[in-house]
Amino acid sequence: GGPVEVDLGRPAPGALLKAEWRGKPIFVVRRTPEMLARLERSAPLLADPRSDVETQQPAYARNPYRSIDPEWLVLVGLCTHLGCVPAPHFEPGDVSGLGAQWPGGWFCHCHGSKFDLAGRVFRNVPAPTNLVVPPYRLDGAQRAVIG
Ligand code: FES
Repeated sequence: GGPVEVDLGRPAPGALLKAEWRGKPIFVVRRTPEMLARLERSAPLLADPRSDVETQQPAYARNPYRSIDPEWLVLVGLCTHLGCVPAPHFEPGDVSGLGAQWPGGWFCHCHGSKFDLAGRVFRNVPAPTNLVVPPYRLDGAQRAVIG
């Protein structure tokens, strides 16, 4: 299939929106300033905090937010270990049973890989790389076009 449009008028701040592109789940998160601030907390815990592995995002998403506009995160929702769909655990702290240091992100229940709110992989988990940022563009504040 071709590009997929995601309506950005729908998700509330902090919400996760799901779409599908080329048979893959797409996660779109409207990150709040507070969620963005937590990315600094996770950075020391990550395997590739600066997104140095170039295959995992387009050049325009190779920045601390891994996005075009920090408010909008767009990811392929497949774990980079063996392809399970990671579950959102956006609340910080131990509310998800992920430990007091948990800054919020995704947890892959298949083998325990963890990713932060920019889809960056934590150290010492099975997944080798950050979640993939697909090619996309933002059409004003109205929609994202994936692909
Ligand atoms: Fe996600 Fe193995 S598929 S940790």
